[in-house]
Amino acid sequence: MKIRLGVIFGGETVEHEVSIISAIQAMNKIDQEKYEIIPIYITKDREWYTGDMLKDIEFYQDLSLIKRYTENVVLYCDNGRYVLQKKGGLFKRVVKEIDIAFPIVHGTNVEDGVLQGYLQSIGIPFVGPNVYAAVVGQDKAFMKDIWNEAGLPMTKYVWFYDSDYKRDSEEIVKLVSKLKYPVIVKPATTGSSVGINVCDNDEKLIEAIDEAVQYDQKIVVEELVQNLKEVNIAVMGNYEHQKVSEIEEVLSANKFLTFADKYIGNGKGKLKTSKYAVKTSKGMASANRKLPADLSKEMREKIEEVAIKAFKALGTSGNSRIDFLIDENSNKIYINEINSIPGSLAFYLWDAKDVDFTSVLDEMINIGIKDYKKRISKTHSFDSNILQGFAINGGIKGMKGVKGKLR
Ligand SMILES: Nc1ncnc2c1ncn2[C@@H]1O[C@H](COP(=O)(O)OP(=O)(O)O)[C@@H](O)[C@H]1O
Ligand SMILES: [Mg+2]
Repeated sequence: MKIRLGVIFGGETVEHEVSIISAIQAMNKIDQEKYEIIPIYITKDREWYTGDMLKDIEFYQDLSLIKRYTENVVLYCDNGRYVLQKKGGLFKRVVKEIDIAFPIVHGTNVEDGVLQGYLQSIGIPFVGPNVYAAVVGQDKAFMKDIWNEAGLPMTKYVWFYDSDYKRDSEEIVKLVSKLKYPVIVKPATTGSSVGINVCDNDEKLIEAIDEAVQYDQKIVVEELVQNLKEVNIAVMGNYEHQKVSEIEEVLSANKFLTFADKYIGNGKGKLKTSKYAVKTSKGMASANRKLPADLSKEMREKIEEVAIKAFKALGTSGNSRIDFLIDENSNKIYINEINSIPGSLAFYLWDAKDVDFTSVLDEMINIGIKDYKKRISKTHSFDSNILQGFAINGGIKGMKGVKGKLR
């Protein structure tokens, strides 16, 4: 029997459309002999829909078509079965049953542990990062603190809360003075270069922070890498085993692209004129790139080694893309960020190593199944210990003993 695979995508995120593209690319390449693909689309207003037509990009032009021709559902656990049940109506009609969920989502409210938390709370096996790794993978402040602790090469950085800035902005300017200008200011969790700006004096710093606090409660400020070359690598596996893809160099005619560049055509009139307008993160399959990147053997090995350490330090799982910044004058490398569920699932980075997309997807699903087995084996051993204690001591007395242990 085929494995019933629920591919979940969309959601309330600025990267909603990118996620639709990533998911459709993947659904086209998933091995149909082995898996029955069940598309599950989350609209921007958080409604879940399922139906075969969701595999076709054309339908997304008009949301009313989706509402008319697909089923509005909820996913829940019904006596150990994971079912998509029609929302509303008199009868609890099960539209589909699924065995494993495959989130292909980007950005806040979905990739950042929110969706994973829901999946884990109903107990369904799922592909990709677990809740903790997904949270940390979206929050640049957490991510940097963990990588810093692991001794990975990074630019100097600080982070703070919007409330501390609002209370005493001078204190924050003082904190940032630990760094050398120019610095780059980023909202910790938004992604896609939203609210990111570079500044080279205190006045511009204040302007940049004022903008960043519109997007996030946590703000990261870090030193700017000069003579910049950006390279990305994918890492596949879990905390036990990892392997690395080919490395790409991300190129761009403008050197830096803003969100408008990437998602709103040429973005004329909306583009920041600053010489430091910023490039976006998702590095989709269509982006301008050199693959493989032009790198010395030592540099390549260093990037592979740091990428694996970074992946393990976060305890993540699946297939993520890890982005690096290189100063071409000093030849120093700095780890920048992880994309836990990268645009296009970074298939092109594996393709360049002769691993086709179908095998990448198959491997990701297998890792998800292994993660699930590990997760439930841990939970079971905890349960049985409690029951053992109860059986030995017996009755209410035994119960007291258990309570004592749990306290
Ligand atoms: N420290 C830095 N030095 C130079 N450029 C940077 C630095 N940090 C980010 N950038 C530029 O800004 C882009 C977006 O920043 P990034 O941290 O990747 O955020 P996002 O999550 O929005 O992709 C990067 O791809 C890079 O071009
Ligand atoms: Mg990025």
